[in-house]
Amino acid sequence: MHRQPNVHIHLGDCLPILQGMESGSVNLAYLDPPFFTQKVHRLAPRDRSREFSFDDLWSSQKEYATFLFERLSEIRRVVADDGSVFFHCDRNAVHLARAIMDDVFGSENFRSEIIWHYRRWSNSQRGLLPTHQTILYYTQSDNYTFNEIWTEYSPATNVDQILQRRSRDGSNKSVYARDEQGNAIPNGTKRGVPLSDVWDIPFLNPKAKERTGYPTQKPLLLLERIISLATNEGDCVLDPFCGSGTSLVAAQLLNRTAIGIDLSEDAVEITKQRLEEPIMSQSRLLDVGREAYRNADDNALAILQGVDYVPVQRNAGIDAILKQDFAGGPITVLVQRPGETLLEAARKLSKASASKGAKLMFLIAMSRGGCFDFAEELPTGVVVIESPALGIREHLDKLKRPDVLLEKASYLPPVKPESLFETL
Ligand SMILES: C[S@@+](CC[C@H](N)C(=O)[O-])C[C@H]1O[C@@H](n2cnc3c(N)ncnc32)[C@H](O)[C@@H]1O
Repeated sequence: MHRQPNVHIHLGDCLPILQGMESGSVNLAYLDPPFFTQKVHRLAPRDRSREFSFDDLWSSQKEYATFLFERLSEIRRVVADDGSVFFHCDRNAVHLARAIMDDVFGSENFRSEIIWHYRRWSNSQRGLLPTHQTILYYTQSDNYTFNEIWTEYSPATNVDQILQRRSRDGSNKSVYARDEQGNAIPNGTKRGVPLSDVWDIPFLNPKAKERTGYPTQKPLLLLERIISLATNEGDCVLDPFCGSGTSLVAAQLLNRTAIGIDLSEDAVEITKQRLEEPIMSQSRLLDVGREAYRNADDNALAILQGVDYVPVQRNAGIDAILKQDFAGGPITVLVQRPGETLLEAARKLSKASASKGAKLMFLIAMSRGGCFDFAEELPTGVVVIESPALGIREHLDKLKRPDVLLEKASYLPPVKPESLFETL
């Protein structure tokens, strides 16, 4: 058995190891067992120096069902009364898994069927392209740990839905809440929409830094979400089919303790290495979250309304190219991302635009972080434009007394560029 602080990894069949564990000793079990694909899964790491594999071959559905039932019964015992179980599967055996989970945990403890959706390039097979896997979410009882996660409102949400509190009328219909005078009651803090059971999280791309080369490795973002939902700091996460150890790395990054088990020596070895040097893909996606990333793109495009442009996808340094040229080259645009200084963003834009021959580049400032001392450092050709959001935030800050209402309509010129520069 390997021991990292707060993480234990066991090599072997999980059944006897689970049998040796104390009852009620873990808070969350995440299982990603073989999916009944009737294949041997093989993959090589990036340097192609070796091949990792695991078998998913069964003589019958019955053999597979028995294998799951025995292990899930032990998991039922080792998870605490307020704990949860997330069972990862796909279309090959979701029907079997659901029936077995109902049997072992009780259908009354079924919480959700989570659809993990991702994009894939087309394959040549005839039929519908599979682009999801299923995670069955059960709890041990009614009294379970659940940390709400809120997501953005959809663009179709109307303003009343966001601003007004809702209540139930006499026939239990959801209506806008009203006070005694019949006025709508405001909703208070707008938290967004509770996370749904369809999770749009990208599959690990072949170049992702966190990719180990272990077959069927899951993204850290997916495991982080499960662990954040169902556990608190200091809780214990169990993964009896840990493969490359994704759940253990996520648990470690989120300050949970963890226990991992796998039959494969390669899997245990990779897991140990990952835990010693946990690598999250340093993609913007993982740094700032998918929504923030997507919104930043939307912000860039929203700000450009009224200008003729072509959106640019999959380029870290350019969000759009204007349809008009400047000095024989294209005009490029980038929106500053959360957590990034203006100077960093300006350099990124300049670097990405250089090979396109751009001599004029617009950087849309979303915050002023680190921008006070770089006037002379801004790459040539970069023009910094203040975003409306930044302008509104700063004007609000300037109104020292937010209770003072402006009596007349006012035009507030942009906050003077003590800090934003144009260098051409
Ligand atoms: C789908 S993979 C897990 C991938 C993992 N979630 C990741 O992100 O890398 C399934 C794993 O189950 C392991 N396995 C299969 N049968 C097992 C058993 N009886 N006990 C423990 N591990 C087993 C395989 O070696 C394989 O690593």
